[in-house]
Amino acid sequence: MATLVTGGSGFIGSHTCVEMLNAGREIVVVDNYCNSNPEALRRVRELTGKDFPQYEADVRDKAALSRIFEENDIDSVIHFAGLKAVGESVQMPIEYFDNNLISTLVLLEVMREHGCKRLVFSSSATVYGAGNQPPLTEEMPLGTPTNPYGRTKSMIEDILRDLCVADKEFSAVLLRYFNPIGAHPSGRIGENPNGIPNNLMPYVTQVAVGRLPKLSVFGDDYDTPDGTCLRDYIHVVDLARGHLCAVDYSANHTGAEAINLGTGEGYSVLDLVKTFMKVNEMDVPYVIAPRRDGDLPAVYSCPDKAKRLLGWETEYGLEEMCRDSWNWQKNNPNGFNA
Ligand code: NAD
Ligand code: UD1
Repeated sequence: MATLVTGGSGFIGSHTCVEMLNAGREIVVVDNYCNSNPEALRRVRELTGKDFPQYEADVRDKAALSRIFEENDIDSVIHFAGLKAVGESVQMPIEYFDNNLISTLVLLEVMREHGCKRLVFSSSATVYGAGNQPPLTEEMPLGTPTNPYGRTKSMIEDILRDLCVADKEFSAVLLRYFNPIGAHPSGRIGENPNGIPNNLMPYVTQVAVGRLPKLSVFGDDYDTPDGTCLRDYIHVVDLARGHLCAVDYSANHTGAEAINLGTGEGYSVLDLVKTFMKVNEMDVPYVIAPRRDGDLPAVYSCPDKAKRLLGWETEYGLEEMCRDSWNWQKNNPNGFNA
């Protein structure tokens, strides 16, 4: 029996494929490479010494997805495929609703046609919105997302909760990621953003490698210890292992279960930048800039539910995240493009 990994060539997907294969699991990958490079999957094979079926297809293509289910024995799905850039989603809402919602609906239809009832979904801490005080727990009321990307995550959570009401045998694990950074310690796979990065860590590594002149720290007048925003950064390898636990959990569970994947620690922008400079023994020039619209002062998780239900805890700290992000960037200054 295999787990279908949609979006398996992407940042979190490729790391999850490595952890699944190293744990002896069978996987099947589908990706249309709209935001990734198939080279990532070649390197997954290189790192693990294992092979797996790989399909170039859009998850919205029902005929293609049906063929994948017909050609493989799939009993569970990890659904990473989707568009994820907050700013772009404001400019291109139709593309975001189309890709993220339709891919999920087509996937659920094909799963139903093949009697597959276990789904692990990539949700996001963004569903908590602005009204809750951290540490954020899964029982807190969900907020109103401020952008189309966030809305797709909330809407898909709703769809999956409704599905689990209608089908009592269905298991949906809604993994709410906090801020994934870092890379595989080998430096062979990592995050490969298109264009100028919006997120903090890829911006820092591109300044460090000389592709960008300096970092702008967005705001130092928040009500936090050093005035910069607090986030719950999580090493992508820890995050990937959380998916393995979630797939196992879904085998003996029904219903929709939201679970945070974070460390439970809030680090500031300056904590991250200074740790990066220290562990990598280099300077990262930065300036203090105005606040960025939509940023919350502090977002970090309560990770207790993941420990209780999945038996999962993070192993890596901020130093390893900074070390491995840099190791990936310096060995692959142009990402997967040679
Ligand atoms: P990513 O862009 O690196 O990976 C997504 C993958 O899905 C890419 O390989 C892309 O080519 C593929 N894809 C997109 N639409 C597709 C489609 N219709 N059919 C087939 N393949 C398709 O992103 P990531 O950082 O690995 O994120 C994975 C998931 O986790 C996404 O759903 C994202 O929204 C979610 N998430 C990410 C973060 C983060 O900070 N990276 C935080 C919270 C949630
Ligand atoms: C953002 C998204 C979130 C998404 C996540 C991962 C918003 C409001 N939230 O989270 O929905 O799930 O990315 O894709 O966009 N920072 C700087 N300088 C920079 C970049 C960032 O100071 O050049 C600061 C930000 O102000 C923030 C922190 O670094 O305080 C982290 O930012 P980022 O990596 O973009 O993640 P989030 O905003 O937490």
